[in-house]
Amino acid sequence: MENTSTNKKGTVIAVTGKGGTGKTVLSALMVKVLVGEGKQSVLAIDADSAVSLPHALGVEVKRTVGQIRDEVINDPAARKELESRHIREGMKSCLHRGAGFDLLLMGRGEGPGCFCSVNDLLRYGIDTLSKEYDVTVVDGEAGPEQINRRVVPKIDVLMMVTDTSSRAFRTAGLIQEIAKNDPALELGKKGLVINKVKGREGELQDAASSLGLEIFGYIPDDENVTAYDFRGEPVIDLPPSSPSVTAAENLLKKIGL
Ligand SMILES: Nc1ncnc2c1ncn2[C@@H]1O[C@H](COP(=O)(O)OP(=O)(O)OP(=O)(O)O)[C@@H](O)[C@H]1O
Ligand SMILES: [Mg+2]
Repeated sequence: MENTSTNKKGTVIAVTGKGGTGKTVLSALMVKVLVGEGKQSVLAIDADSAVSLPHALGVEVKRTVGQIRDEVINDPAARKELESRHIREGMKSCLHRGAGFDLLLMGRGEGPGCFCSVNDLLRYGIDTLSKEYDVTVVDGEAGPEQINRRVVPKIDVLMMVTDTSSRAFRTAGLIQEIAKNDPALELGKKGLVINKVKGREGELQDAASSLGLEIFGYIPDDENVTAYDFRGEPVIDLPPSSPSVTAAENLLKKIGL
């Protein structure tokens, strides 16, 4: 196997949580802050088949990993071609260049049938690709399903996003259980990010403690996010002084980035 070691940090952050809690907004905020500081190379991965991170990052969607997967499943010649190059190079054919970061789209989920070797190959490709960046931010699919199934075998920072609803807290608790019990997952630190906060930090802290979860940070309910969402403007273009952007800065500091 080709030596892929680089001097990049290769830190993988996985953003998970119940639907609609703000995974995509948080992922885009973190990319914005990391890119804005200009010190880290950043790969963003949209692992949600509903595909929403590109819009939040102001990038137009083209090719997805799902498309590569379909091509190699349906065409043995395409598969040979992919295997003959290093898979990482194959992945690069569907990288989107953003303003200071790269973006990879997983595309739609795996179809019926067992294509384990193809899936393994693609996962290996994403894993090696992520080692070429300082930080990889993975915007995950909603819900508590297996977080690493399609994307990466190693997560350095697992973020469970919750809003202030008890159901979202419960989903975060489930995700932490699944992560804990997944023998195939190499997991670093894990914690909650509480989003759309309008005060009541004390009660939220109690709810997190009862799940045995550390709080990485609070993101306030931000009027600017609401206004940008309404106007269809990318999160990455939010003014740097927006409360949610400042909160994302603090969050990244808290996890050592
Ligand atoms: N801090 C915030 N302040 C105000 N609105 C927010 C904030 N965070 C997220 N939102 C809004 O909440 C909604 C859901 O956010 P987002 O799409 O990021 O959630 P998600 O968890 O990615 O959803 P899905 O599960 O569908 O992928 C959006 O309308 C978004 O603009
Ligand atoms: Mg989303």
